[in-house]
Amino acid sequence: MTNSGDGEPGRDHRVRRAAEARQRADQARERAQEARDRLAELRQDQSRLMRHDERPTGSADHAERAGALADASIRQARRAAANAAAANRASADVHDSAARLHNQLAEVGIGDPDEHRRQARQHQRDAAADRVEAEHDDELGEHFAIRPMRAGAEADGEVADPVEGDMTGDADSIRARVDELLSKMTPAEKAGQLTQYFYFRLPAGADAEPALGLEVETQPRTVEAALARGEAGSLLFVTDPAEINRLQRLGVDGNRLGIPLLFGFDVIHGLRTIFPVPIAMAASWDIETIERGQAVAAREARAVGIHWAFAPMVDIARDPRWGRIVEGAGEDPFLGAAVAAAQVRGFQGADLAQPDRIIAGPKHFAGYGAAIGGRDYDEVNLSEYELWNVYFPPFRAAVEAGAGNVMTAYMDLDGVPAAASRWLFTDVLRQTWGFGGFVVSDANVVRNLVTHGFATDLTDAAARAVTAGVDMEMAITDPAYAHLPEAVQGGAVGEDVIDTRVRGVLEAKLRLGLFDDPYVDEDRARSVLADPAHREAAREAAERSAVLLRNEGGLLPLDIDRLGSIAVIGPLADSQRDTLGPWVFDFDLGETVTVLDGIRRAVGDRVRVDHAAGIPVVQRVFPSMFDMFGGNRPADPEGFEEDTEFARAVDVAAAADVAVVVVGEWQNMIGEAASRSSLELPGRQLELMQAVAATGTPTVLLVMNGRPLDLRWAADNVPAILDIWYPGSQGGAAVAGLLFGAASPGGKLPFSWPRTVGQVPMIYSYTRSHEPDNQSRRYWDEASTPLFPFGHGLSYGAFDYADLTVEPTVIPTDGSVTVSVQVTNTADREAPEVVQLYLHQRHGSASRPVRELKGFQRVVLPGQASRRVEFTIGPDQRRYWSTTERDWVLDNSTFDVWVGGDSTAELTATFTVGRTAIH
Ligand code: BGC
Repeated sequence: MTNSGDGEPGRDHRVRRAAEARQRADQARERAQEARDRLAELRQDQSRLMRHDERPTGSADHAERAGALADASIRQARRAAANAAAANRASADVHDSAARLHNQLAEVGIGDPDEHRRQARQHQRDAAADRVEAEHDDELGEHFAIRPMRAGAEADGEVADPVEGDMTGDADSIRARVDELLSKMTPAEKAGQLTQYFYFRLPAGADAEPALGLEVETQPRTVEAALARGEAGSLLFVTDPAEINRLQRLGVDGNRLGIPLLFGFDVIHGLRTIFPVPIAMAASWDIETIERGQAVAAREARAVGIHWAFAPMVDIARDPRWGRIVEGAGEDPFLGAAVAAAQVRGFQGADLAQPDRIIAGPKHFAGYGAAIGGRDYDEVNLSEYELWNVYFPPFRAAVEAGAGNVMTAYMDLDGVPAAASRWLFTDVLRQTWGFGGFVVSDANVVRNLVTHGFATDLTDAAARAVTAGVDMEMAITDPAYAHLPEAVQGGAVGEDVIDTRVRGVLEAKLRLGLFDDPYVDEDRARSVLADPAHREAAREAAERSAVLLRNEGGLLPLDIDRLGSIAVIGPLADSQRDTLGPWVFDFDLGETVTVLDGIRRAVGDRVRVDHAAGIPVVQRVFPSMFDMFGGNRPADPEGFEEDTEFARAVDVAAAADVAVVVVGEWQNMIGEAASRSSLELPGRQLELMQAVAATGTPTVLLVMNGRPLDLRWAADNVPAILDIWYPGSQGGAAVAGLLFGAASPGGKLPFSWPRTVGQVPMIYSYTRSHEPDNQSRRYWDEASTPLFPFGHGLSYGAFDYADLTVEPTVIPTDGSVTVSVQVTNTADREAPEVVQLYLHQRHGSASRPVRELKGFQRVVLPGQASRRVEFTIGPDQRRYWSTTERDWVLDNSTFDVWVGGDSTAELTATFTVGRTAIH
């Protein structure tokens, strides 16, 4: 198997790779054997436990766990065998090509022909031996192709399978492997590993984005040249598995050490199966649904070869003028933290080495959501009090959930570009929270340190970012990190800093198992992307995220049997692209179910359905940078005539038994670089809604949005308002289910819904300050309360809260209380409710908010059913960062608790911390 190189670097390299492949194959076989032994033991354990007639408490659990572990071991063993076979076959291929090379050299007479022929024969023998080994591995794999012990636990077909174990080796072996690679890398190769390139293949004639320095024609060529030099660590923006395999091959072959590429992408709310936008998912307050959504997204992404999502976006957003509010979980740190952690778990599972999982990259660290004036990219000035108490908690939760990556923000935070903040990336993220993954810059951000008027040139920019703790630079072309070798040579950065950064990136690649198998199976990718279970998960998520804002007189749900005709009005009602929402690129428009489609399918030929757009598509004043991607720029149908169409819409509504009007923002009006100076409905939508309502036909308003819009008129005049957000691929099917009562809405607002733009930022968790009784009259021209409060959302049930208890009512500083409440659904039908708990500290080392969310539980109660719901309030819920102490504090104080269905809940109780110690 070993082969003496004859001094040619290319051949040496290939021979070394053959030896490495062989070594890995041996290791994989050993692991397969270990897994088999473990399996035998576990099986014995399980049957012993099953034989017990008198099972000790917990034995069923034990048996279940043993069964699960056994299943996991079977899968591990099978994958180990498959890896071993693949490695042996790869090794055989390398020997074959080395043999061919020696024969050619012998023929053309370079060097000693006899020696070449001898070497060729040796390589052929080695290749044959490897193929025999591969067959043994196949046999071993077949041995494990038995039914798993736990019913339905076949990993490959499951969305979120808790597979245990790490196929890619333990921490020590990963460290050793990284050490070895580092010792062989040149400075340019190291800088390459720290560089991530966009790879843009845009449609011919697409308008490039000049602000990004993007040249459509040359960009892909520049990136491929970097791959050929072995000087790129990661690519983003490729989603086609064949293209990913092609680029991966260029990357692996171009790199002297065969280091594979990491592929990253904005997997924000689904890859092919599009889920509701993130703000909608947060509005479900349904942690399992949120986790499952990202597990589906991860499964699709990994199947096409994507290893890493630039998600979740966990920026707190309190100003809806900022378009990126749609990507996050809204205004509240407690809800934001729960949603952030759920998403990380969904993407990554328990272990990145599991199949179908990808690295999660919470972003944008930190404070990006507080852009001044809600203007994307503009500066942020936040006190440490706000950072620690409001903006950091979702990041911390994501880190604690094990996020493998964190992305920087674009803007200046308190006068320092966030991407060059040592405080953020070293002191807070790594030293305080113990983050062990790698940090990526946002797009072009390291170069932009020069643009900000901060760094002198690209070398200085690279040095400052890398020293602050930014491991990888995301670049379109011409990365600043290409100047890192220069920065090291000039003494601006120590080589050890570079090695630490490279280590993070290589470890991620090893943990993902990319060195063993960097390519994807394109056939499998096709079948995963088509999985109907994914579409069903998306439908259910859309159903759970809709928020019923108003339902006067119980207009909803509509009774199909009593309807003769429905008018579906508005241009968004039948727009597939808008139904999906922003931040998706790999969608399949053909299978997207619009509101109109969903209604038509639900009623069949029982009810007549007429559609009229009524008004034209509204265009942005300044186009969106996302318009350069195909299908993103909306257009009117041919021959559209505005006045005729408006009149037709009103006629159709007048003639119908019920009118369903869809209003909102077109998807390119929200998201990145989509800030607004107003919250009004764009175009003539208000006028259209008013004209429809004036016909006297009962009207249901559906709002398609990612931020609160000015609905003051509707809130007074339209009986039913359902916020459907951008509901995704199956949105229309979910909306129809809600309209006709197959399911009940149960979502709750993750932000306070302002009346008008002049009120923003508007939050429910303000402090009492001066004259709190006048709080609702801070403006003389408009109430300073929201139109709909944080946490608001109705259902087809009716929930009553009673008998609130807190026990004990006096606790020591580090003690906890149990809060318990009786929740009753007084309606006759089943419905979901999110029970929310709010807390207020009356006095202490800071003035604390009037209320803060500190607990929530989503329950589904049958009609007339009642349940007790319990929460624990301990030090974690009471602790806050105090400006007085410049530290985290736990004050002794009196606390008010409210429990109810939104942030205005009135049922209240108190407890005291610290007066008397309880033992
Ligand atoms: C956004 C990031 C995104 C990146 C890559 C940037 O403009 O701010 O959130 O992940 O582009 O698409």
